Amino acid sequence: MFVNVIAIDGPAASGKSTVASLLAERLHIPYINTGNMYRAITWKTLHCGIDLKKSGTAELNTMLDHTELFYQENSKGEFVLVIDGAALGDEIRTAEIAGLVSTVAAMPVVRAWLLERQRRMAELGLIVMEGRDIGTVVFPDAEYKFFITASPTIRAQRRLQQSGETFDGATLKSVARDIAERDRIDSTRKIAPLRQAEDAHLIDTTELTIEQVVELVVSELKM
Ligand code: DC
Repeated sequence: MFVNVIAIDGPAASGKSTVASLLAERLHIPYINTGNMYRAITWKTLHCGIDLKKSGTAELNTMLDHTELFYQENSKGEFVLVIDGAALGDEIRTAEIAGLVSTVAAMPVVRAWLLERQRRMAELGLIVMEGRDIGTVVFPDAEYKFFITASPTIRAQRRLQQSGETFDGATLKSVARDIAERDRIDSTRKIAPLRQAEDAHLIDTTELTIEQVVELVVSELKM
């Protein structure tokens, strides 16, 4: 039995978020960005002053026990991420969070905690869910699976053009190095590493426009 999910995975800055959000808009279905959920937890650890290197997992467990995180539909029909009653925006898209989130996402307690909440979202009906392990771990039975990649240089260029995600003075070289480091942590972690599901459609977006990628995805959907 398939689960009613369009799973979109891929490495950082491959263009998957843009594709996933345009696709959801076009199909009028919820768009769930699981990277933002990992960023939200990272944001809260910083906000609570938890030093992950020093404190181990005890403080983190207590924090998670006192955290509520979910996607909620707003008056415009968009699904927004809400943590402890407050909607999160650009505060999770900083260079500081980008530099720490892969480490937080490698922690088993965080993954288990978020996995439970991500799976519950299938109750919303057909959704687009985007991340690193959606087609492999969160929804291995997703009806549709896509793995979106692009060359390292193109990914670094795209990231450099996004505001807020890089440190002041960042160069193509420094951004490429940061992305490579995130890829390394994301694909070598023990639990749910970044990898393409065997039954996922691979789309290399290096030489494609966003519109072309969305068309390619739509052409694979039988609806
Ligand atoms: O998509 P993003 O760059 O905003 O994701 C932020 C981090 O979260 C990324 O470094 C890896 C992690 N992540 C993950 O481990 N599993 C997911 N399903 C989504 C994101």
